Amino acid sequence: MTILMEQTARYVRETLAGDSTGHDWWHIERVWKTSLLLARQEQADLQVVQLAALLHDIGDWKFHGGDEAVGPRLARDWLSSQSVDPAVIEAVCQIIANVSFKGAGVVAAPLSLEGQIVQDADRLDAIGAIGIGRAFAYSGAKGRAMHDPDQRPEYHASFAAYQNKQSTTINHFHEKLLLLKDRMNTAAARALAEERHAFMLEFLRRFEAEWTAQDPATGSISHLTG
Ligand code: ADP
Ligand code: NI
Repeated sequence: MTILMEQTARYVRETLAGDSTGHDWWHIERVWKTSLLLARQEQADLQVVQLAALLHDIGDWKFHGGDEAVGPRLARDWLSSQSVDPAVIEAVCQIIANVSFKGAGVVAAPLSLEGQIVQDADRLDAIGAIGIGRAFAYSGAKGRAMHDPDQRPEYHASFAAYQNKQSTTINHFHEKLLLLKDRMNTAAARALAEERHAFMLEFLRRFEAEWTAQDPATGSISHLTG
C-alpha cells in the first residue's frame, strides 16, 4: 500500500471515529476492499478508486445540516495537503459529490467508471446481512421505530423529500435497499448483489411472519378479534 493511501486511511479513521449510524470506519474499510475487488475486474484506475472509496463519506450531508458541499471540500483540502496530482483530486471530488443515493425517483448525475465502482461498492454495503444491520443501527441512532404497519413506504421524487422523511427501518427497505440490486453500474457488482438481495427478501418474509404471529404449520395469521 502506498504512503498516501495509508495516510488517507488514517485521516478518515480519525475523522469518523465514534460514528454509530452505520458510517463508521469499518463501513469505509469494507467499501475500500469491495471497490478494489470491482476495480480489478473492471480495469479501473486503482488510485482514484481507492481515494474516492476512502473519502466518500467524509462530509456526509446527513451530519452537516444537509450541506452537500462539505464532502468534496474536505476531500480537496486533504488531497491538496498531500500534494496529490490536481487531475486526480478533480476526479476524486467529482465522485464524492455524486456518489450518494438521493431518493428513489431522483435522476443521478453521470459518473466515471471509477465513480460507478465506488457507488456500487457503497450500495453493496447497504444490502445483504450488513445492509440489514446498518439499517437497524441507523434507525436506532435516529430514535425511529423499526416498523409501523400503518405507515406505507414512499417513493421520493426529490432529494429534499427523501432527506426529510422519517421512515421506519422496514420502509427503508422498500424506499431504498430493495431498489439497489437493479441500480448497480457494473457487471461485477450485479453478480455480488444477487445473493445479498435474496437474503433481504428472506429476512423481510420472516419478519412479516413473526410480526403477524403466523403459524408456521398452517401459514395462518393470528388476529386479535374473534
Ligand atoms: P451510504 O453509505 O450508502 O451513503 P447512507 O448514507 O444513505 O449510505 O446511509 C448509511 C446507512 O444507513 C445505510 O446502510 C443506509 O441504508 C442506512 N439508512 C439511511 N437512511 C435510513 C433510514 N431512513 N432508515 C434506515 N436506515 C437508513
Ligand atoms: Ni458510504
